[in-house]
Amino acid sequence: MIKLLEMAKFFLTKADIPSDGVLADFTMGNGHDTLYLCRLVPMGMVYSFDIQKEAVENTAKLLKEEGISNAKLIYDSHAELEKYIPGKINAGMFNLGYRPGGDKKIHTMKESTIKAITAAIKKLVPGGILVVSVYPGHEEGRLEGQLIEETLCDYDKKDYSIVEYKLINSPDSPFIIAVQANSSYKEKD
Ligand SMILES: C[S@@+](CC[C@H](N)C(=O)[O-])C[C@H]1O[C@@H](n2cnc3c(N)ncnc32)[C@H](O)[C@@H]1O
Repeated sequence: MIKLLEMAKFFLTKADIPSDGVLADFTMGNGHDTLYLCRLVPMGMVYSFDIQKEAVENTAKLLKEEGISNAKLIYDSHAELEKYIPGKINAGMFNLGYRPGGDKKIHTMKESTIKAITAAIKKLVPGGILVVSVYPGHEEGRLEGQLIEETLCDYDKKDYSIVEYKLINSPDSPFIIAVQANSSYKEKD
């Protein structure tokens, strides 16, 4: 079966991201997704967020080692994204939960997650995609997934196509929600 990370990357290929595009990694962690996104837009920019100083430090180190300079690393919550991202984005990623190798008590929380996801969706260009990886194996992750599903169910299908990729015979396994702004989508704000 296609692995979660492979599927997240597959969804991104459907966003027709130009080499000078603008992307966002809303949960920087140790920087692996940020690095991946930076390579997708060598002439563009990646905004990357985390509330842990160690995440920002680890990511800065990784990007330096890899010779990557097209990322803005932001030591703040993704819920504040509007302060930092001035325009539209071609795509974005949320990889929820806690930082691998870090303090498991510091993890994404449903209130800030939903605020950030709904704000990020508004920033998508027509055809742009947001990919969210959810980890329902712990209680906050389960509630987070539930809230995202409930909220996104109400989005108009004329404006957005929203899919879920999940193992239905393993409810505790991680799953993906992908949101694409339809090509006919017109900014309402
Ligand atoms: C599963 S990790 C991300 C993995 C990462 N994308 C990578 O490639 O290593 C989740 C990250 O989300 C961060 N996080 C939690 N709450 C956050 C918030 N409100 N805003 C931004 N990042 C947050 C955590 O600190 C943690 O580093």
